[in-house]
Amino acid sequence: GLKKKEVHLLCLGLDNSGKTTIINKLKPSNAQAQDIVPTIGFSVEKFKTSSLLFTVFDMSGQGRYRNLWEHYYKEGQAIIFVIDSSDKLRMIVAKEELETLLSHPGSFMPLDIKHRRIPILFFANKMDLREALSSVKVSQLLSLENIKDKPWHICASNGITGEGLQEGVDWLQDQIQ
Ligand code: GTP
Ligand code: MG
Repeated sequence: GLKKKEVHLLCLGLDNSGKTTIINKLKPSNAQAQDIVPTIGFSVEKFKTSSLLFTVFDMSGQGRYRNLWEHYYKEGQAIIFVIDSSDKLRMIVAKEELETLLSHPGSFMPLDIKHRRIPILFFANKMDLREALSSVKVSQLLSLENIKDKPWHICASNGITGEGLQEGVDWLQDQIQ
């Protein structure tokens, strides 16, 4: 059959937001891990859509590992940024990390995030939790409307059931073709 186009994807966001759970859910069911543990450093994963083969750098969101992210910026052709919609206390930390990402001066210009028009998919994850904020509210708290130089999209998601993931990945695929 037709060879799928390979795309390098960075999966970023704070620890416990659900990055690994989401990436795991995007794999075929027979390839999914049963137990998800906090990521140490990062992990390289793969999943397919109808036309793309994604290689994912699933980064740890723990504070002590977040300085690793920038070393992979130059690899990224697309970004998934995951937010725990129920973690109101750390929304400001998520916002700061996003701002750092978007303004990173980068020693790899024009390959850094700041100078490339790469698509960013936000998952407002954990939508099942009673205290979860809506995707509109998360978008406001992160000031996503200020992102003018990159295509972006936000979806409410449930990493455990997979709800919302397909909508997001469909959008990402459309941006890349
Ligand atoms: P780090 O690797 O430490 O950066 O964390 P992570 O962002 O990869 O989070 P991980 O996927 O390990 O998930 C953290 C916890 O959130 C786990 O207990 C998951 O089961 C849980 N979780 C993930 N997605 C959801 C969701 O949509 N709803 C609920 N209720 N829990 C979720
Ligand atoms: Mg993880």
